[in-house]
Formats: sequence, C-alpha cells, structure tokens
Amino acid sequence: MTAISAPPAVPDVDGDAPLEQSRLLRTAVPGPRSLALTARRAQVVPPAVGSAVPVWAARAGGGVVEDVDGNRLVDLGAGIAVTSVGVSHPDVVAAVAAQAAAFTHTCFMVTPYEPYVAVAEALARLTPGDHAKRSVLVTSGAEAVENAVKVARRATGRDAVLVLDHAYHGRTNLTMAMTARAMPYKAGFGPFAGEVYRVPASYPLRDPVGMTGEEAAARLVDVATRQVGADRVAALVAEPVLGEGGFVVPAPGFWPALARWCAEHGVVLVADEVQTGFARTGAMFALEHEGVVPDLVTTAKGIAGGLPLAAATGRAELMDAVHPGGLGGTYGGNPVACAAALAAIEVYERDDLAAAARRIEAQVRGRLEPLVGTVPGVAEVRGRGAMLAVELVEPGDGLVPDRAAAARVAAACAAAGVIVLTCGTWGNVVRLLPPLVIDPALLDDALDVLVAALRGQEPPPAPGEASATTLAGSRPGPAVGGGRDA
Ligand SMILES: Cc1ncc(COP(=O)(O)O)c(C=O)c1O
Repeated sequence: MTAISAPPAVPDVDGDAPLEQSRLLRTAVPGPRSLALTARRAQVVPPAVGSAVPVWAARAGGGVVEDVDGNRLVDLGAGIAVTSVGVSHPDVVAAVAAQAAAFTHTCFMVTPYEPYVAVAEALARLTPGDHAKRSVLVTSGAEAVENAVKVARRATGRDAVLVLDHAYHGRTNLTMAMTARAMPYKAGFGPFAGEVYRVPASYPLRDPVGMTGEEAAARLVDVATRQVGADRVAALVAEPVLGEGGFVVPAPGFWPALARWCAEHGVVLVADEVQTGFARTGAMFALEHEGVVPDLVTTAKGIAGGLPLAAATGRAELMDAVHPGGLGGTYGGNPVACAAALAAIEVYERDDLAAAARRIEAQVRGRLEPLVGTVPGVAEVRGRGAMLAVELVEPGDGLVPDRAAAARVAAACAAAGVIVLTCGTWGNVVRLLPPLVIDPALLDDALDVLVAALRGQEPPPAPGEASATTLAGSRPGPAVGGGRDA
C-alpha cells in the first residue's frame, strides 16, 4: 500500500456564503488537496472509472464548481448535461429536503406515491405530441433506453433494433450493443445483446458534399432493408442530436423521412432525448426542431436537476401492450428524485430556460464561429441551443480527426479554471454544455479561455487571480489531463 500524506490545509473558504459566480484560481489546477485525493482514490477506485477533470469538488452552485483547494471553476459541462437548472438550484434543494423528510423510499411497486404520477403527467404534457401517453420511471438513461426497447419489442412482436452510427445509448449490456464506439465503452465487454443493427447517420461535415437529410435517410433505409428487413424491425432508436458521437445535428429532412418510413412499416420510432431533452437545445425537446412526433421518448440527465431519474414515455397503446409487472425496478421513480424533477420542471417552464439556451447559443456562436477558417484545425462549430461543439482536425485540407488537439484544449481550459468536456467518435470534439442559468459575463470569461486555448495562446488571467495567488502562495499551473472523454 502506498502511504498517503496528509492533505494540505484547507484554504480559507466561507462554506456558508453563496458561491460567487466568477472564476478564481488560488492554486495550480489541480491543487495539492485535489492531488492528494487523486492519490487516495487510486487505492480504492479502479482507473476504469474516469474523471474528465482531476479536480475535486467541494461545493458547486449556478455555473461554478469550487474545488477542495478553493479554486472556482466555470462549469461548461453541467455534470454531462444534468444540472441545466444550475447546480443545487434552491427550488430543487428545497423540494428534495421536504420529500426526504416525508419519506425517502417505499418503492412504487410496493406502496405507490403521488410524485411519480405527477412526473408522468408532466412528461405526458411536455414531450412531443398530444396523444395519450404513459411513462415508466427508472434511474438512469441506459435503463430508460432498455425499457423503450422492451416496450417496442413487446408491442410489435419483432426483435430487431436499428441504431445509428456514432450513437451513444449507455453502458448496460443492451445499450453497449446499441452504442457505436468501442473504446472505451465496449472493448472487451462482449458478447453483446443480439438483434441490434447499426445504420448510417446523417453527419453533414463528413457526408458527401451536398447530401440532403432525405438522401441520408434513404441511405439508412437501404441498409436496414437489405440487411434486416423492415418487417423484422421493432424500433429505430436515435438521438435527435448525436451526443457522445460529437454533437452532430443531422441535415434538415433526415428525421421527417425516418418518421415516414417508420410509420409506413410499423417500426416504433424512439427518440433518445437523454442528453438533448429538457430545454438543452433551445426547445423543451430536440425533436420539436424537426417537427417530428416520436412514438417513444427516453429522458434522464436534465430531468431532475442533479438527482438520478429517467423515463421512457410512449404512446399509451404501446406502453399498455406490456403485461402487468413487466416493467419496474426497486429504485425506479424514487420519490426524492421525483420531487426534484417536479421542482426542476417548474424552473424550466417558469424561467423559460429554452429561451436561455437560445441566448447561450447566440453568445457562443458569436465567439467561436469566427475561428472556423481562421484558426487551423477548427473544422466546424455546431450544435443546438446550449449543446454546442467544436470539431478539431489536423491542419490541412482533409478532415483527419485531431484527438490530441481536443485533449490539449480541454486540459488548457481546466488549468485556467474552465471545465469543458470532449466527445466524438474520434475523441476530437470539444463540447459545451453550460447550465442554462449561467451568467452571461461568466460564460464570456470562460469563452475567453476557450478561444485562447483553441488559438494555442496563454489563457487570460482569472478575475482577481493576482490577489488570490498571492494569498495562496502558489501559481496556477498546467492541469493533468485524463479520464473519460465522452
Ligand atoms: C443519448 C444518451 N442516451 C443514454 C445515455 C445513458 O445515460 P446514463 O449515463 O444515465 O445511463 C446517455 C448518457 O450520456 C446519452 O447521452
């Protein structure tokens, strides 16, 4: 066993004061206490569990994560698109506290409770389409996807499931089969669930020049028809904007054409809105941009302001086709998570966070789009709402993915106190998922850092950095990169 030295003294941070919404560096990032915790975790947590930024959270609020060394980092990851209403939104905190004091768990399959039904009612109202709907609540996005597939198979009596190239649907056995990328998600973990077939997505940057959404859909249908046969397909499961695959927005017309094909052939269209849902893309659900009503929608992440909750919401006739007792789980629709979801949903609607996402899009595009064609390697700025990304390629004429550049940019941002994540099939995409409540000035400061990193320049100092570093007696330094990149 390696001995772990005692961590250095905690900086003078007032834990009760509201977390100031500004970037602040008191030490190098990661600081000494973070480094000590990283060494400690190595004794008990396998490296398989990655962490994108080697900085340990002490508290977080709004758009800021304060680390154990007293550094304040701007959060452009929102815990992978989860804390869209802001970290520890006071309404969510209050709802959680009240529900936890009433009861933390009874199990909906034993003695049910009203918040579960209220969440299902909200999902019926908010998800696309005004048909009758039912929801099953579960705990993670992968479970939501699994349940959508179970429902589609039971309702159609068919086995095959179509999924897109570049898709990400989770880490369970079925959802690993549905996820495209081998490393790190699938390598060595097989054999995978059967009857999952991969079909081409629409990826405008990398598709033949001028390929329309209808043509990309026809390419998909051709593969599905030749390799599977429409009459065997239970469901087509797809993300409206490919998430871990690189924030790829399909060409216009792709989704409507898919929806027509599914309707013609009795294929259940499942929109995996786990990452895109809940105002993230500038609409409550991303398929609203496409004018398409799916048969089933999966949600998670932003649904409950940071508590684990997920759902499969579908047409009543599909959901009701499952035999009694066929769906559920001990923790599914936990009452504390449901209370958090009801509070978060109220915030999305009351504060019109979809409009906030659209404002964020305008602000970010205004700063990043000028880099395309002027900074070597910046191939494209894309996304929807507050789900935005930069795809990086090797400088030159081609589109050779530059994974190292994305890692470099993310590490430079972290060192300067800005959390950004990477994604993409080749790991060469830097993605931004800020909380939708982020203060515009805070976002601007973070964008200054990101733009400098993309240009390969020194980051601008954090506001108040000089006095803070003097206080702490150490200077900001390079971050140690590592962890999960998608
Ligand atoms: C589109 C999509 N589906 C499913 C999942 C899996 O969700 P979870 O990690 O909650 O299982 C994710 C997670 O990133 C996702 O982005």
